[in-house]
Amino acid sequence: MELVIIGSGYVGLVAACCLAHSGHKVITVEKNIGKLEKLQRGVLPIYEEGLEELFRQGVNSSRLFFSEDLRDVLPGVDFIMIAVGTPSLADGRVDLAQVYEVAQTISETADHPLVVVMKSTVPPGTGKYLIERFFSKACVPIRYVSNPEFLREGKAVWDWYHPDRIVVGSDDPVTAEEVLELYSDIDAPKVTMDVTSAEMVKYASNAFLATKISFINEVANLCELVGADIKLVASAVGMDKRIGPHFLQAGLGYGGSCFPKDTKGLDYISSFNGYSFNLLKAVIEVNSKQRILAVRKLHKEIGNLAGKKIAVLGLAFKPGTDDVREAPALDIIKYLVDEGAAVAATDPLALKNAYPLLPSCVKLSADPYEVLVGAQAFLLATEWPQLVNLDWERVKRLMREPFLVVDGRNALDARRLVGLGYRYCGFGRPGNF
Ligand code: UDX
Repeated sequence: MELVIIGSGYVGLVAACCLAHSGHKVITVEKNIGKLEKLQRGVLPIYEEGLEELFRQGVNSSRLFFSEDLRDVLPGVDFIMIAVGTPSLADGRVDLAQVYEVAQTISETADHPLVVVMKSTVPPGTGKYLIERFFSKACVPIRYVSNPEFLREGKAVWDWYHPDRIVVGSDDPVTAEEVLELYSDIDAPKVTMDVTSAEMVKYASNAFLATKISFINEVANLCELVGADIKLVASAVGMDKRIGPHFLQAGLGYGGSCFPKDTKGLDYISSFNGYSFNLLKAVIEVNSKQRILAVRKLHKEIGNLAGKKIAVLGLAFKPGTDDVREAPALDIIKYLVDEGAAVAATDPLALKNAYPLLPSCVKLSADPYEVLVGAQAFLLATEWPQLVNLDWERVKRLMREPFLVVDGRNALDARRLVGLGYRYCGFGRPGNF
């Protein structure tokens, strides 16, 4: 099939490369000229495991193209997939300006019947509104489908081909089947429903996963008070099939481009509809407090932070990505700098993205050993394997008393570190290793 994808952000590019790999002809529309030129020169502007190869294949096999203007590429396409950004506004509202702009252009330009597929995360009710305000007013029939994505950064290509389910929301079963044809090579349960329910599936899924994380973080905080170990507790709790082992990793909490935005977005949508989603409000609050907790742990162990040197290991919101959006490390570093600490930080991939967002006094280095020189304490903020597996005997020789480790992801070998003479402090773990 022939389709246009609007937006070459993370979701748009993964969708474009994967759909081209599946044999479809894909034209990606990108209005940012710098980004477009890069793509046209064969440079992928994001890092995502396995994507580069699919991108090259798509370009070389003439199944993947890039264009600036939707109007130039519209003739002949069957589907238009919208994958533009829907960022959070300061009050938690979802900014739909880019979606509206694209919907208007499509409805004004369409000269033959086509199907619009919404990949961007949009609040429940948006599809209905878009149909009423834009698509029903076009000169040709435009059918609308919600098709949310559940891709994890760093694992997006894998997730594309191995989804737990493919959700298609349409008010017309024939259109839903046409869109499902795009995924005919993917072996996964295919679920169809109405547009608004499909939009809600995305929010409910992300909110539920975020709830699991905040829940386990609260249990961890209680573990500290009663002397239990959250790692043991969570692994046994997760063995209950009704609960499952995933998203029970306690620590600094969630960051990234989805969970913070979508939980706040759903909270706003609830309030807007006159409903107070109290559980979700608590999830959001617990998550932001975990970051403060990291600073409190440093305080408790080494007192006043002014003038103390603290190393932060990891800046990305999770391992395997250079993405620092809503990363816990960024907030924590700001708190530490406000308290007068001398902060040095490292990350295997995210230094370039983090640099403009950090106070200028923060020393950055790609070499973790360098940032640990003279540090009284370090915080592990992202559990990159290369940071978890440092040469801890060497690190001990570089650091200073009291050799404090704040393990923000409960990822380090506490017993070994304590044996080497470090003072270990995890989240929800007893001190007696
Ligand atoms: C998430 C969803 O998983 C995906 O389905 C959706 O489409 C987009 O949002 P992503 O943001 O890439 O994907 O990251 P994910 O791997 O889900 O982790 C999110 C955050 O939660 C990370 O900051 C991670 O460190 C944190 N996390 C995850 C925990 O703190 N504990 C856990 O047990 C799991």
